[in-house]
Amino acid sequence: MAGVRMPGRAIVFIGFMGAGKSTAAAELAAALGGEALDSDALLEQRLGHPLAREFELHGEQAFRALEEELVCDLLNEAAPDSAIALGGGSVLSERVRAALEGHVTVLLDVDPQTAWERVQGSPDGATRPLARQREDFLALHTSRRALYEGLADTILTDLSIGGIAATAPALRALAASPTGTRLLWASAASGQYPVLIGRGLLSRTDGRQPETLWPLDRSRSRAFCVSDDTVAALYGDSLGALAGT
Ligand code: S3P
Repeated sequence: MAGVRMPGRAIVFIGFMGAGKSTAAAELAAALGGEALDSDALLEQRLGHPLAREFELHGEQAFRALEEELVCDLLNEAAPDSAIALGGGSVLSERVRAALEGHVTVLLDVDPQTAWERVQGSPDGATRPLARQREDFLALHTSRRALYEGLADTILTDLSIGGIAATAPALRALAASPTGTRLLWASAASGQYPVLIGRGLLSRTDGRQPETLWPLDRSRSRAFCVSDDTVAALYGDSLGALAGT
């Protein structure tokens, strides 16, 4: 439901094969002090054999059914501050997409050629079921792009952000924001700055300054408020210590 603040949302990485979702989830969980979970690894554990073997034995459809079940359980039971990496095709399931709504969805974007090279260079590269033919792989990337983008509360590219751990304060702020809030990254010569966009970001009923107001490490950044008279008159009081800066 848009506009409802949901504390305890997990941060879920989606995106194509080779985007680096598992590594990102592990790094972010370490930064947040939460648990890292990986749907592919958990499914392999449950099956007792590699995913590629499952494709060979029972086909993609059977694999998708098992994946859907596991991912829905994972999302429904996810603890706050956990970081979860989902298999690239899991969001093809409508049930998985519905379960994602309770969490923060981060698209880890990767260009198709880089993804192809990474996957081919990985230990299971030669056996990955959907990464055997370059042309098919690239076409699958194109066909999924809109789906991934439509689900994302924020999009990260490892090139522009420079380390997932550096994004932890902003992702935590996003998780503490009302659902429907989006996080964008503004580029400046001095670096990348998180920008939260959404309704209700300044409203808190307990009178404390909203933690979403400044999604950067406070000890290492300076805060400014830029406004015009109309907006300042309407919202200045919500800014607490920032008002008048
Ligand atoms: C798949 C992605 C893989 C794995 C399976 C199918 C896909 O996971 O679940 O081979 O359909 O995109 P990663 O995205 O973790 O590589």
